[in-house]
Amino acid sequence: MKFFIDTADVAEIKEARELGILDGVTTNPSLIKKSGRPFKDVAAEICKLVSGPVSLEVTAIDCEGMLKEAAELAGFGDNVVIKLPLIPEGLKACKRLTEQGVKTNVTLCFSPVQALLAAKAGASFISPFVGRLDDIGQDGMEIIPQIRQIYDNYGFDTEILVASIRNPVHVLDAALAGADVATIPFSVFKQLVHHPLTDKGLAQFLKDWKEVKA
Ligand code: G3P
Repeated sequence: MKFFIDTADVAEIKEARELGILDGVTTNPSLIKKSGRPFKDVAAEICKLVSGPVSLEVTAIDCEGMLKEAAELAGFGDNVVIKLPLIPEGLKACKRLTEQGVKTNVTLCFSPVQALLAAKAGASFISPFVGRLDDIGQDGMEIIPQIRQIYDNYGFDTEILVASIRNPVHVLDAALAGADVATIPFSVFKQLVHHPLTDKGLAQFLKDWKEVKA
């Protein structure tokens, strides 16, 4: 499973990249706002920092507007993936961009049937938001194996990019369900590596090592 980082904070991206396991970046308008920086500056910097896919989201809500924005966003680098909302106009734009060979990430997906529509429109990635489903009392992760099964049933090569991840269990369940990608907030990236028994065991090894004669 590929690991993307879900942030527009360049310092976080650099730190995650140093771990050597970062495959890409996803952003959205809210994450850009949180970065506190002008969009063009932050988008250009992220696209240079990471060689893997960088999702940049359109804000138009009509197909022609989305296509116009997509052309501008593509200028930030060869690794740009155009993020489109899962609305009828977004599906139309996805189909058009796919026909032009442009990579797309269809976002704000909350059901397996929506994911099927995105795949039929040729999406490179589908982003089901598991945490936001949990927030309204539905088990968000339930839809991931369902999307996996649908895509496998029909041979769709759209990659399942699990988004709105809130904790390490979401990452575990995404991997068990055969998701292609998890896009992970930096706070969760840090939680993934940590285990108290690792720390305890290492402390003991280092203590004992001091008592070993060379
Ligand atoms: O990038 C989209 C998604 O990961 C957003 O997550 O935590 O705002 O629901 P969240």
